[in-house]
Amino acid sequence: MDATPFLPRADAGWKRLAAAVQDCRGCPLWRGSTQAVFGEGPLDARVVLVGEQPGDKEDLEGRPFVGPAGRELDRVLEQAGIDRDAAYVTNAVKHFKFKERGKRRIHDKPTYTEVRACGPWLERELAVLEPEAVVALGATAAQGLLGRDFRVTRQHGQLVESPLAPVVTATIHPSAILRARDDEERGAMRAMMAADLGVVAERLDGAFRGSASG
Ligand code: URA
Ligand code: SF4
Repeated sequence: MDATPFLPRADAGWKRLAAAVQDCRGCPLWRGSTQAVFGEGPLDARVVLVGEQPGDKEDLEGRPFVGPAGRELDRVLEQAGIDRDAAYVTNAVKHFKFKERGKRRIHDKPTYTEVRACGPWLERELAVLEPEAVVALGATAAQGLLGRDFRVTRQHGQLVESPLAPVVTATIHPSAILRARDDEERGAMRAMMAADLGVVAERLDGAFRGSASG
């Protein structure tokens, strides 16, 4: 079982996809969550950033990367001299998977099967956007997009041959930075992620950078 039966016709544009994902029942994750969270950003974006799945805040607001991980992502993009508004952001899995802890909902990592089940939505997003670069954020997105053998710890920032886009790479997930032990580790992780994103910006001749940074 996967998302395929719930996809709109092949010629459907972004709006139709974003509407149709709300009715997806391609895996069990739709049950507990508030809504599906589709990607967001300019449809002519040259770069697509792919996270793991919506978090608590994203599930409630219906928009990707609007919680703490999104703030961290903004910060690193700024550090890399990249305009977040120039990128389209989305997730490998469109529904929030969580465990209940009292009144709180705690992130629960989606399985590889769930990532695969949701993959058709991401494929269709990439088909309508036709970005020049795709960046997987973290192991879940990287393994979904680049295969189960991909290791972000070893291969982050490396350019990968892929049918997804001319420039494809992966870096760490901004949530990993939030879990850093101390400021030193946090600083190192931010620098690493900014460098990985910088590789993409260079490849795109800096056009991924916003007007503010030239
Ligand atoms: N983490 C993600 O991977 N995606 C979001 O949208 C928010 C947090
Ligand atoms: Fe469909 Fe993906 Fe939601 Fe599963 S997580 S129900 S495949 S949109």
